[in-house]
Amino acid sequence: MTATFGRGVRIAGTGRAVPAQVLTNKDLEKLVDTSDEWIVQRTGIRARHKANEHETVFSLGRDALLQALQASGVNPADLDMVIVATVSGEMLCPSTAARISEAVGADDAAVFDIAAACSGFLYALNMADTMIRCGRAERIAIVGVEVLTRLVDWDDRTVSIIFGDGAGAAVVVADPDPSRGCIHQTMHGDGRMWRTLYHPRNEREVPPADAANPIRLGHLRMHGREIYKFAVTRFQEAIKDALDRTGLGVDDVQHYICHQSNQRIIESAVEKLSLPPERVYVNIDRYGNTSAASIPICLDELCRAGRIEPGKPIILVAFGAGVTWASCVWNA
Ligand code: ACO
Repeated sequence: MTATFGRGVRIAGTGRAVPAQVLTNKDLEKLVDTSDEWIVQRTGIRARHKANEHETVFSLGRDALLQALQASGVNPADLDMVIVATVSGEMLCPSTAARISEAVGADDAAVFDIAAACSGFLYALNMADTMIRCGRAERIAIVGVEVLTRLVDWDDRTVSIIFGDGAGAAVVVADPDPSRGCIHQTMHGDGRMWRTLYHPRNEREVPPADAANPIRLGHLRMHGREIYKFAVTRFQEAIKDALDRTGLGVDDVQHYICHQSNQRIIESAVEKLSLPPERVYVNIDRYGNTSAASIPICLDELCRAGRIEPGKPIILVAFGAGVTWASCVWNA
């Protein structure tokens, strides 16, 4: 979808929050049969944050949004919408967005969660941009937050090394300049692949073909190699499509912000499309895969470092469980 409306959208402020505890690869060596060398070489991850019993999807999301609100100067009471992207919220009902909106004082906002896993924040950003652009909203808060370490079977060495906990948030607002904001977006899914990463709570939710899976019920089950292959292809296609549709050259983009799932997946897109490596943001070494939080954490680090130049485009791409994938070309 290419922007056609009469006004634009601006990121007014961003924020992030991560648990205090850092779990290094060396720490993991004591928990599962793995090694720092294997994890770094296969994923690029060196450390990740892990929530304690008091740190929750609610509390991390709230803290990230409070920071984003402060950075934006937007009064929470003026928010039209609070969207929370997560697949690990503590409560199924009400939404995490409802509880966060109360905590930040967004008393007049529409509230809902998006369960698109790692693509969740981009789904939310794309929807928020569209809502504002067409005049249905003025100010929207978006939070991407996960505490996936609670869903991990710590005996499973492929899943336990990957995920980390955290939250990132952005407040987006209407801008009179129609060239600002999302100039191209895509959102996709392929439900036929849901079995590649799922979280069964009981036997009924286990597909027959996966009946012999040794991972205990109540924990994430991941078919890593299948996801890897899918992600490599989709990342390359999504970035190429974003460049082709907007007419941008690889050097016209100030930052490529890819979902931080595996450094090798990101590097494959860099190689295939000859992207300038210094413009491809990577922080997976410090956070691991924080799912819906990964893109907004990157965004916040870049914003707070003063590295987002107004008027220049950013390409954001993500893929996740579902399976889902999404892209956004954002003119800052
Ligand atoms: N430490 C040491 N050895 C390991 C580990 C580990 N942590 N994990 C697996 N191995 C072993 C395997 O047992 C296997 O051994 P074998 O050859 O003797 O059988 C060998 O290493 C290779 O295993 P692979 O599964 O082929 O390893 P691969 O290179 O594919 O890396 C990984 C695994 C990191 C999981 C990779 O497949 C991957 O990143 N996949 C994508 C996962 C992903 O992005 N998931 C998130 C989805 S997004 C969302 O929505 C949450």
